[in-house]
Amino acid sequence: MSNYEVNGRLYSAEPKPGQCLRTFLRDLEVFGVKKGCDAGDCGACTVWLDGKPFHSCLVPAFRGEGRKITTIEGLAKNGELHPIQKAFHDAQAFQCGYCAAGMMMTIASAAFDEAHKADLPHALKGNICRCTGYRSIVDALNGRSNIEEDVAGKACGASVPNPFTDAILTGKARYTMDIAIEGLLHLKVLRSPHAHARIKSIDKTKALAVPGVVAVYTWEDVPRRLYSTALHEDHLVDPDDTYMLDNVARFVGQRLAAVVAENEAAAEAGVRALVVDYEILPAVFDPVAAMEPGAPLLHNKSEVVTQNRNIFCTLQGEIGDVAQGFKEADAVHEMTYSTSRVQHVHLETHGSIAYKGEDGRWHVRTSSQGPFPSRAKLAHLMGVPAREIHVFTERVGGGFGGKQEMVSEDLPLFATMKLDGRPVKWEWAREEEFIGATTRHQMTTKVKIGAKKDGTLIALDVHVVSNTGAYGNHASETLAAAMGSPIAAYRCANKKGVGHVVYTNMIPAGGFRGYGASQTMYAMECAIDELARLLNIDPVEMRRKNVVRPGDNVESIWKEPGDASFGSHGIDECLDIVESELKKGNGVAKPDGEEWAEGTGVALAMLECGPPTEHRSGADMRLLADGTYHLACGSSEMGQGIATAHKQIAASIVGVRALDVDIINADTDRTPYDTGTFASTGTVVAGKAVHITAQAMRDDILDFACRHTGADRDQCRLDNDAVVCGNKRILLTELHAAGAKVNHRFAVSRRAYLSPRTIAFNVQGVRLAVHRVTGEVRILHSVHAADIGRPINPMQCHGQIDGAVAMGFGWALIENMVHDQGHMVNPQLRNCRVPAFADTPHTDVFFASTIDSIGPLGAKSQGECAINAVAPAVANALANATGVRFPHLPFTPDRLFSKLGTGK
Ligand code: FES
Ligand code: FES
Repeated sequence: MSNYEVNGRLYSAEPKPGQCLRTFLRDLEVFGVKKGCDAGDCGACTVWLDGKPFHSCLVPAFRGEGRKITTIEGLAKNGELHPIQKAFHDAQAFQCGYCAAGMMMTIASAAFDEAHKADLPHALKGNICRCTGYRSIVDALNGRSNIEEDVAGKACGASVPNPFTDAILTGKARYTMDIAIEGLLHLKVLRSPHAHARIKSIDKTKALAVPGVVAVYTWEDVPRRLYSTALHEDHLVDPDDTYMLDNVARFVGQRLAAVVAENEAAAEAGVRALVVDYEILPAVFDPVAAMEPGAPLLHNKSEVVTQNRNIFCTLQGEIGDVAQGFKEADAVHEMTYSTSRVQHVHLETHGSIAYKGEDGRWHVRTSSQGPFPSRAKLAHLMGVPAREIHVFTERVGGGFGGKQEMVSEDLPLFATMKLDGRPVKWEWAREEEFIGATTRHQMTTKVKIGAKKDGTLIALDVHVVSNTGAYGNHASETLAAAMGSPIAAYRCANKKGVGHVVYTNMIPAGGFRGYGASQTMYAMECAIDELARLLNIDPVEMRRKNVVRPGDNVESIWKEPGDASFGSHGIDECLDIVESELKKGNGVAKPDGEEWAEGTGVALAMLECGPPTEHRSGADMRLLADGTYHLACGSSEMGQGIATAHKQIAASIVGVRALDVDIINADTDRTPYDTGTFASTGTVVAGKAVHITAQAMRDDILDFACRHTGADRDQCRLDNDAVVCGNKRILLTELHAAGAKVNHRFAVSRRAYLSPRTIAFNVQGVRLAVHRVTGEVRILHSVHAADIGRPINPMQCHGQIDGAVAMGFGWALIENMVHDQGHMVNPQLRNCRVPAFADTPHTDVFFASTIDSIGPLGAKSQGECAINAVAPAVANALANATGVRFPHLPFTPDRLFSKLGTGK
């Protein structure tokens, strides 16, 4: 045995051959060391060796012998946070927190000196954060505090800190994989190397002979039941077109077989030892080609009934008379825009651990945005009642829509059921995320738009083709979103649209922040700008003139009235803010040199808050014997801060501090039902459930107090830790004890449903410089105004917008999944980049002063919509700078260069 000193403690252990320091430390149950990539690209695994920071995934474990190894768990001393931990606490420099350990280990090291601090783009190049947009991390480095005091009765609207802050900053927060389980088995999958192939046979013999391999499962072993991986309340909105394991591969990366072994290395060796005989089938990757007669068909018509020449779904409609509208138009713009396929890159990859509990039931610990619909799908697949399955989350390391899928839970559950309940873990690698998870839908949007001389829109025709890839999870709902808010955002008497979602042999697309609306909002906002240019009207004025207003029908291309209406309307304020901020010329100056062209651009986004299909959430609340409260809510906390917001809502109603409300989330045994945390529902549905539950709790306490004291009900009020009834003040602890004597439990539950839906707006402004020779783009100033109603927690809302805007810049300028015949050629973070510190401009964030009449406590969608305005604002600024319209995302230098070079 060798000796290793980790955080001052000696361990006698022997690394496995070839083992890296990261996995070795985790084998020692030092779980603060995270995995984001295992390739040296993300920094989540950063630890110190003799005080110097290293990416532990790149260091052979044996190199740690005889050296002092320090991880996040060793940073605080004598119970006192390290100054950097304290700075991260005060600035709240994290959201999901998955990157925070690595980020702090880099910043807190002695090597990170003043010179590093002065050059953060360089100094932080090895640490990626997907959530924050890095602004709050800069705040931490500058010693800025972003938190406010948690005052009894005033929690809502205050920037109270995340309740999990200390656990996250000290490495004690437990994410899905942060657990040691006796007898744990490891699952790995074989993924298809072919875009379209029939599996003639899979020979397991050699795999089963690998020492440590205990089982191999193929399509012949698993239940043959169709389902969709998408998590929705209404399972009918997604086609049941997927099998757990299939005998037809429809995209490169589709899982074909699962190997379960005593350790990961054996599972991987077992996968490599499988021998598959494939019959290669013709494949189609382009959705337009896939719609042509004679194109290879993805699915068997007898199984997937809605299919027609690979078209899963078509949506169309018309209001008014579009042809007549174009005849009356004084200016018409027509262009085809397209958006790229990008990945969520939540820093915590997908993963689940399944096991049989002492209660004889099946338990699935998973990183999910929807444990309840996951349980329903698992019950369907395994053919057992849902009550026999318990699905729960620990801390979730980011989601962004990528975990609104049931993709990692089924195989471990199936394996544990087959293997006498032995615990089975499946943790995805980063490359698997790129080739086997879901992506944003690639969409092509043709817009024809006409207006009168004064800018009044008079005709709009939108044609969308959405590439759903091999499976139809989220296909129709994202198309509905694409054909909804972006078209409804503008008044226009004559509107028409048709959209197709098409199966191809590409990786399946799925839900992603913005959910389909991002793609067509991009096209619409570019087209509005082009029309304004044709009419010589200021682009902001063009939007002011045409944007939908209270009293208007909020209608897209369908005559039937929807359930969206204005609980508040802050778009004018947002446009004013962005216009005036851009005029100030803040930010940085254009680089010297006549090759640099400068331009400004704006874009707006509108969001109907919540999905159009049914969505429901519940909350349970109890008064505890110590006078504090316990809240249970089924929505997932994945870094967006919903647990903080729910505590704040409840605390405000019962008049205590947020700190006095304990919360648990997302657990099918311990929390009430929740459809899932997506489409802004964490605030507008689950938040509403918490609101009315807390009101019921308040009423229950006051009713009991009035009976207990004999005081009139209207003389009783809650006052922090007590009830005041007339001139008597009774502590909640006393009241709870009095209740216990008469069997009164002070426990309430309420349910909330989504409808009607309110409407949120965002406006993004960009000033940028583009180099005419190289195509390099530099963001000189970014300003964002959000109409989100009352911010429940302004600090968190600001952080959500920072993160969404950073993701928007990534989509516009950097991120690009490159495929060749269905093969992703860059499935690594270093080659398929997401914004690092150096790529992320500072954004000035403002809120409109709206208080919504529909959302809970005046709030509406707080974090989702911001992304939708960013890419079109960049596109409009590029057009303003160069006079050239770039219709296709992303705006990478090579693409700009080719057009700037020719001037076409
Ligand atoms: S896990 Fe080591 S750098 Fe990403
Ligand atoms: S907080 Fe940085 S990745 Fe989530």
